[in-house]
Amino acid sequence: IESPVKITKAWLIPAVQIQDAPRFPHRGLSLDVARHFFPADSVKKYIDLMALYKFNRLHLHLTDDQGWRIEIKRYPKLQEISAWRDETLIGHLDNMPRKYDGIRYGGYYTQDELKELVQYAAARHITIIPEIDMPGHATAVLAAYPELACSGGPFKVAREWGVFKDVFCPKEETFTFLENVLSEVMQIFPGKYIHIGGDECPKDRWEESEICKEVKIANNLQSDEQLQTYFIQRIAKFVNSKGKQIIGWDEILDSGDVPGATVMSWRGEEGGIAAAKKGYDVIMTPNRFCYFDYYQWRKRDEEPLTIGGYLPLSMVYMYNPVPNNLTKEQSVHILGSQGNLFTEYITEWKQVEYMAYPRACALSENVWTPLELKSYDDFLSRLRTQSARLDLLRVNYAKHFLGQ
Ligand code: ACM
Repeated sequence: IESPVKITKAWLIPAVQIQDAPRFPHRGLSLDVARHFFPADSVKKYIDLMALYKFNRLHLHLTDDQGWRIEIKRYPKLQEISAWRDETLIGHLDNMPRKYDGIRYGGYYTQDELKELVQYAAARHITIIPEIDMPGHATAVLAAYPELACSGGPFKVAREWGVFKDVFCPKEETFTFLENVLSEVMQIFPGKYIHIGGDECPKDRWEESEICKEVKIANNLQSDEQLQTYFIQRIAKFVNSKGKQIIGWDEILDSGDVPGATVMSWRGEEGGIAAAKKGYDVIMTPNRFCYFDYYQWRKRDEEPLTIGGYLPLSMVYMYNPVPNNLTKEQSVHILGSQGNLFTEYITEWKQVEYMAYPRACALSENVWTPLELKSYDDFLSRLRTQSARLDLLRVNYAKHFLGQ
């Protein structure tokens, strides 16, 4: 990162040998660029800071109900329609009556921009993992391609947050679309993993659908839950056929197996524990310990509006990604942990930094430092040194810890 401070002094440091190695292979942060869109230069700053704290995986949440953020050349309406919403909710979703700002909002990264980001991240030892969410969180796509839903639409790119009932219909046309999309995605992102979402998919439309009934009969599926497993298995097979592996949110194993999948446990640790016991690789991101969109300070009225929840710095630091009820063999499947930053209520870049730092500093030790060497008091004292560094780098980190 370019420092705004001119170096005018010659510095001398003693020669030392450092022996150091990370505890986990997956040391991640995510960034939701779908709910709010941040330009590539901002993402580069995110990457710079990640590199400073030895993170090695950036999970970009590129698609959601409220916007599609990746150029797909074969489907131009994803850029023309899905990337834009008419307006955005003002205030918290729970505030009634709901109010909207009346301002068209959106944007997307071109493939060239994303390829440059991939290079930029790679030069800093960070792999970008793209997430294309399916079969739920697909309203923005359906606004452009309503034929991919079970009922005909019309649909609009969502202007508020939540879980929406209109989802991809598991028909051939949808699989063709998604395979074409994923083929372009895999051309841009050379890493081993493609995140295919899989979370929060209501089955209301599938229950009502004649097409789904036929797909269930043809594939001997007993329920809509099994239909979701069938959906994820098909996508996983396609991704595997290109030499890559899927990551999915823990819902992907709710009602069946998805061989070769890596599970991202977010609804707590239970999904990850069950998966590791079955031999799946797991990335631990339980919301209670890893969701950086939650409040970080108990005095909520002094804080910017968030989605809710409470995750103070100390609680991030105390999190151990390896649950103590796993055996040694099962624990090997815990690839690491990740801080998740969903951005429903994060409208500006300075707030991204505020929510991520210094909690990301705490997480970085969870995934790097051997358990027996961790100490919160020691961390806090070292964090004070980091605060000078973050000031120099013009990072808008949350400063509550300075009073602790
Ligand atoms: C999620 O927070 N829906 C993965």
